[in-house]
This record gives sequence, C-alpha cells and structure tokens, in this order.
Amino acid sequence: MKEVKDFKVLSNVKVNKEHLLLKVQSDTKLLSILPGQFVEIRVDGSPTTFLRRPISIHDVDEENRIISFLIRIVGDGTKKLSQLQPGDLVNILYPLGNGFTVEKVDYLLIGGGCGLAPLRYLARKLNEIGMKPDILIGARDIDTLFGVEEHRALGNVFVTTEDGSVGERGYVTDHSILRHPERYGRICACGPDAMMKNVAKYAEKHEIPCEVSLENTMACGIGACLCCVTETVEGRKCVCTDGPVFDFSILKNFTTTKQNYCDN
Ligand SMILES: Cc1cc2nc3c(=O)[nH]c(=O)nc-3n(C[C@H](O)[C@H](O)[C@H](O)COP(=O)(O)OP(=O)(O)OC[C@H]3O[C@@H](n4cnc5c(N)ncnc54)[C@H](O)[C@@H]3O)c2cc1C
Ligand code: FES
Repeated sequence: MKEVKDFKVLSNVKVNKEHLLLKVQSDTKLLSILPGQFVEIRVDGSPTTFLRRPISIHDVDEENRIISFLIRIVGDGTKKLSQLQPGDLVNILYPLGNGFTVEKVDYLLIGGGCGLAPLRYLARKLNEIGMKPDILIGARDIDTLFGVEEHRALGNVFVTTEDGSVGERGYVTDHSILRHPERYGRICACGPDAMMKNVAKYAEKHEIPCEVSLENTMACGIGACLCCVTETVEGRKCVCTDGPVFDFSILKNFTTTKQNYCDN
C-alpha cells in the first residue's frame, strides 16, 4: 500500500559540507516500510523543480511516526529541501520500490558517500532479528563523511576516506576487512556506480550474494513513465518498481556511465 500525505518537518540539520538530515513526522500511523524503499518528495516553492524528487528512506521510528532522510544538495530541488524549517509541511508519496533481503546471515553493508542513505534502516531491521552487521562507510574526506558515530549502535563501523583523513586511506573496496570474505553471508551496497560494480565483482569472486540499490533518474516513481528503465539479463526493468534494490548478478550487462547522486 502507498499513500500521499503531508508530513511535518521536525528538524532539518546540515550534518557536513554537503549533506542534510531531514526528519519528518506523520500525524497518523506510518505505513509498513521495507529497508531500501524510497519516497517521492514534492518540492514546493522552486520554480525550476516540477517533478517530485526520489529520496531513500534513511531511518524509521515507527512508534513516534518519524521518517529520516539523508540528502545531498546537488541542484535546485535538494537546495529547496535544505531550506525546510521545523513546522513546515512536506508532501510525500511513500513507500516506493522494493527492499533489501533481511535474513539471519552475517551482513556487510557498504555505503559510499550519500549511498549510506538506505543502509541505516536495513541495519536497524537486522538488529531486530538479532544480527549486528559490519558497516563500511566511505567518503572523500572528513568534510563529507557522515554516520560513523550514528551507526555504532547498529553495527561494527569501518571507515575509508580517499585522503586518509579518517579511517583507512582509499576507496571502500580497498578496506582491509575485505580480506576476510569468509565472514560474510550477504553484502548490500549503495554508492557511486563504479563502487557498486567493484563491490559486486568482489562478491562474485567470493560467491557472496550481493544486492545493490540503484539511483537511475526518475520521474513518476510508480512505473508509469518508463524513464528509469535499466537493462538486466532478465530484460528491461523499471528501477522504481522492480528496484531500486537488485541482485547484482542480474545486472551483469549494466553498463551505464551516467553519474548518480553518490558520485563525487
Ligand atoms: C531511488 C532513489 C533514491 C535516492 N535517494 C537519495 C537519497 O537518499 N539522498 C539523496 O541525496 N539523493 C537521493 N537520490 C537522488 C536524488 O533524487 C537527486 O539527487 C535529486 O532528485 C536531485 O534533485 P535536484 O533538483 O536537487 O537536482 P537537479 O537540478 O534535478 O539535478 C542536479 C544535478 O544532479 C543530477 N541528478 C539529479 N538526479 C540524479 C539522480 N537520481 N542520479 C544522478 N544524478 C542526478 C542532474 O543530472 C544534475 O547534474 C535518489 C534517487 C533515486 C532514484
Ligand atoms: S520513474 Fe516512472 S517508470 Fe520509473
């Protein structure tokens, strides 16, 4: 089930040079949300932003009816979202798309930049079934890093920065925990396409099931406009309804060179 409704902004805080943490509250019980699902947010007051903007569900507090979003400011729409104030109303269509697999195996969650967005709620859902995942967070540098302390309660956190200012130097796929593939029963990743492809290559080599969340450009978010289609070994699929989470093995022919929102 999906619904469109106005949520009240509880807080909207800049967490580093380029990311916001937006928390909104519903006045009614939230619909059931899977980790990995996303919303379409209507951006009011921006003359250049006609379409809703797809944003992953970062976290959910069911008891208090709160949803959080981690948002990278890239253009007019996200800039307008950065100006929302506590008490403002924001119109949201949710929940959309599919979700990550949640099962009782040892997980490695890999988030590159804003790719951490859909992984926090996944970590929370894994905690609920008694699992504590390893969470590998990658960022360009200390100024664009987010989530290290915030995720410690949910999993074992590891960090890479490209300049070595925090954690190990390099890309997430260079981190030393990847020397122990035998530890993992499943990998879930979100980030720049190049990162996800390297993660998938690693998973394939070590025969670890791997799911990735794609961020193709979207308009309707509900399978009507076909602007988000991606090629898979099973044919063309809509990222908004068949995804955004895919098992990477069906994306073997995925050759996009498009930038996504996680790219630096
Ligand atoms: C399923 C899904 C989940 C997403 N989750 C998040 C999230 O949790 N946090 C977040 O910050 N962003 C997320 N995004 C990306 C977000 O939707 C875009 O960054 C946003 O729509 C940009 O809107 P804008 O008006 O600010 O920028 P625009 O003015 O529309 O674009 C600014 C620049 O960003 C590029 N751009 C816009 N959208 C995308 C996109 N989807 N992929 C690649 N490049 C894009 C444009 O080509 C342009 O160069 C997600 C996208 C999808 C499809
Ligand atoms: S965004 Fe319209 S079909 Fe996917």
